[in-house]
Order: sequence, then C-alpha cells, then structure tokens
Amino acid sequence: MPAFTNAEPILLRTLRNQPTERPPVWLMRQAGRYLAEYRLLKEKHGFLGLCRSPELATEITMQPIRRLNPDAAILFSDILLPAECLGLRVEFNPGPKVINPIRTSADVSSLRIRDVKSSLPFVFEAVRQIRRELENLGGPSVERKALIGFAGSPWTMACYLIDQGIYKHFSGTSIFARNNPSASTALLNLLADLTSDYLIQQIDAGADAVQLFDTWGGILSPADYRQYSLPYIQRIFEQIGSRVPTVLYVNGSGLLLEEMTESGATCLSIDWRTSFQQAVSVTKGRSVIQGNFDPTHLFGPIESIVRETREMLQSAPKESGYIANLGHGILPGTPVENVGAFIRTLKGEEF
Ligand code: CP3
Repeated sequence: MPAFTNAEPILLRTLRNQPTERPPVWLMRQAGRYLAEYRLLKEKHGFLGLCRSPELATEITMQPIRRLNPDAAILFSDILLPAECLGLRVEFNPGPKVINPIRTSADVSSLRIRDVKSSLPFVFEAVRQIRRELENLGGPSVERKALIGFAGSPWTMACYLIDQGIYKHFSGTSIFARNNPSASTALLNLLADLTSDYLIQQIDAGADAVQLFDTWGGILSPADYRQYSLPYIQRIFEQIGSRVPTVLYVNGSGLLLEEMTESGATCLSIDWRTSFQQAVSVTKGRSVIQGNFDPTHLFGPIESIVRETREMLQSAPKESGYIANLGHGILPGTPVENVGAFIRTLKGEEF
C-alpha cells in the first residue's frame, strides 16, 4: 500500500470544516479541450465514445491529475448523459443538442424514468476505476486526492431538454414553464428523482463528494429561482443526506446567495462576479465557499496570474472553509502552463 501524507484528502477535510494547512484546489472542467492528450483521444473516439467507455473516461479524468496535480479529480462525463434515462437522445457538436426535445406538455407525459443503474452502467464503472487509479497514485509525498461526482440541476437539465437555442440564454425554458405549469413541475420532479438516484449511484461507486451544476439558475429572478430551481435542488440534497458533502454551483450566484444557502449544500461555488465578502455576508460562515477565479485570467501573462491568484487567496473567506477554483469551467485554448502556475501558486510551490 502506498504511504500517504494524510489519511483524508485535503478537499474533504475542508468540506468537513477541519483546519487545513492551505486551501485545496481543483478546476471545474479540468479535463477537456485545453489538453492536447484529451484532443487526441476525442478525435479518435468522439465525445460520447469517451463518456461511454469506463477505461477512456478514467484515462481522461486522470490526465489533468498527472499533468497538473490538483487536489481532486472530477469524473469525466457530461450533465446531459442522464437524459438517456428519459428516452431523450443527445448529440454533442461540441455543445449538447437533444434530437427529440420536449416541446409540449404531452412530450413530458410520455417520459418515463428508466433505471439509472442499468442505463448508465459505464458511468458507475468509471467511478470505480478512477477510485482505484487515485488510490494507486501513491508515493510517500503524494497527498490523497478526492473524487468528485456530479450532475446538472433539474432546472439546468430542463434548459437543454426544452430550449433548442432558439432564444438567447434559454428563455424558451422559462416560457415553457410559464405556459405549462403542471408539465414543467412534473418534468422538474422527474429530473429531481433521476438526479438523486444518479448521484447516489456515483457515491455508492466511490465518489467522495458531489457537485450539482446549476449553470443556468442565474437566468431566473430570485422569486422564480424559488419556484423552478431551489425546491428540486433541496430535494436532491435531502435524498443524499449525510452520505457525502455536497457542492452547489450557480453561474450568476451574486443575486441568488440567500437561495443557494437554503439549498442545504455543504459548499457554495460562486462565480467571479460574486465577491467573497458578498458571499460571506449572506452565508455568515454556514457554508464552505468555492471559487471564484475568472477563467479568462488564465490566458496570462504568468506574472498577472500569480498576482491575481495571491489576491484571491488574501481575500478568501476566513469565516468558513474555502476551496480554490474557477468561477466557471476552464475555457478551451487556455495555456496548460498557465493552469499549472495557478495551481502551484495556490499550493505555495516554486515554479
Ligand atoms: O469538469 C470536468 O473536467 C468533468 C467533465 C465535464 C464535462 N461537462 C465534459 C465536457 C463536466 C463537469 C461537464 C458539465 C457540464 N456540461 C455543464 C455544467 C458546467 C458548466 O460548464 O456550466 C454544462 C452546462 C454542460 C453542457 C455542455 N457539454 C456544453 C455547453 C458543452 C459544449 C461546450 C463546452 O462548454 O465545452 C458540452 C460538451 C463537453 N462536456 C465537453 C467536455 C470536455 C467538450 C466536448 C468536446 O471536446 O468537443
């Protein structure tokens, strides 16, 4: 067995409110197009081919771990894959497109949840394989890494299943919800049950923590957020209970901090337009905070990345645990060495 410097990964210690020597760091979308080794495999197998192969999904999850040494791995998959469990077919080019989208309330009535475990076995097998790879990293100076599972929030999933890019910012989903209140409630309920099951299966397979991406929650007013997004997120986190710590990411978090705090998430992941002070003034130390580096800073130069990263660290919350991360996913074309500079600065390493 490899000798680890710490029994528990630093990310988990932070999520459990234990003191740590430094904040843990990982990056949303840390696997993907900015890595040449990812592009090679995607060219050969296609995006869905990567997601559907546990071996390839494991390899891609591990690529940023080997190259950049963040404190956590995030399962390689996509928030749209569980749509298959509702009989919806999704293509990626590179963004998701549903072949048979939801257009009417009758489309919602015809949806049925197929068993998550037997519909997406490759996801849970990937989690098991990544777990093994992480345990085998080893070496006396290697800190253990956490494995993060994830899903999209019901509202954000609905945005992709209903709106086909006809409207800017997924307004088609809000329009559908206003015109079809009972169908939209039924759909969001279905998605909440499906997502709870999906995340619990990831946890059973070995995920140490789970993150819910509510990428399009920010298009809603706080009142609409309380109607269309928050209750379903609360239900998912209730179902997960105390199994593992939970993280909620909202793009456009600044206006929804109160609602995010009520979600029951262990940790709130904020974007770069939301300051730490603003977040803490609402959470009052009740939630761990994650974020909030602007992903465009990573386009360099290195000196400014180092300066901005140090500034972020200085202003990071002291009232609660803090996880260093971006305010949204890493952008394609981000220079890999700049990502390395960000992570090394956070870890206090020389480079
Ligand atoms: O973080 C990771 O490294 C794990 C992998 C991951 C992917 N998608 C792989 C992916 C995660 C966590 C996601 C989540 C996801 N997918 C979200 C929520 C997070 C966010 O960024 O807001 C959303 C909204 C999606 C939907 C989606 N999938 C979009 C909009 C796109 C296309 C454009 C883009 O942002 O990359 C995808 C495709 C996708 N998912 C790619 C990857 C690596 C690119 C596929 C390619 O290589 O062409």
